[in-house]
Amino acid sequence: MTLRPVAAAEAPALAAIHAAAFPPSEAWGADAIVLMLGMPGAFGLWRPEAGFVLARAAGGEAEILTLAVLPAARRQGLGAALMAAALAGAAARGAEAMFLEVAAGNAAALPLYRGLGFAEVGRRRRYYPDGADALVLRRDLRPAEPAAAAG
Ligand SMILES: CC(C)(COP(=O)(O)OP(=O)(O)OC[C@H]1O[C@@H](n2cnc3c(N)ncnc32)[C@H](O)[C@@H]1OP(=O)(O)O)[C@@H](O)C(=O)NCCC(=O)NCCS
Repeated sequence: MTLRPVAAAEAPALAAIHAAAFPPSEAWGADAIVLMLGMPGAFGLWRPEAGFVLARAAGGEAEILTLAVLPAARRQGLGAALMAAALAGAAARGAEAMFLEVAAGNAAALPLYRGLGFAEVGRRRRYYPDGADALVLRRDLRPAEPAAAAG
């Protein structure tokens, strides 16, 4: 599945995807996306007219800023591919762990994240405008230790 790095000039196309993926109160405009991309360590990957992920890697840790797939493009593996690319991009930038926040009732994103090895490390009560709690999830990015030799 071909993914492209995001450029700031593509922010309007990303904002259109975000608006279709999230409720109006949570949609990010192009200006907000440009600001996110300007943060130190920020990077993004996308499949045009389908979905994108924005992430940030700084100080040995990384976070997912947002992940959005158009309704018509869902359940075809794009969300997982975007997340895998973001995890690889963060590891390549020296991050040892990836964090993200997700609404406790997000029935699509939670199985996706758990399937990629994320585990809950915290809960932020009434974090979202609708009063929903946010779960803080973490995934290790360090290569697994080689198994100790037997004997
Ligand atoms: C969450 C989201 C990015 C998933 O994108 P996607 O391209 O549909 O995800 P994938 O096709 O890669 O799904 C991978 C796995 O995640 C899980 N999953 C995805 N959508 C699911 C759903 N609606 N219900 C249950 N499990 C789901 C499944 O385990 C799926 O594997 P499967 O299809 O083999 O069963 C997409 O639903 C979306 O944009 N939602 C709105 C925005 C949002 O909530 N973003 C995350 C905020 S933290």
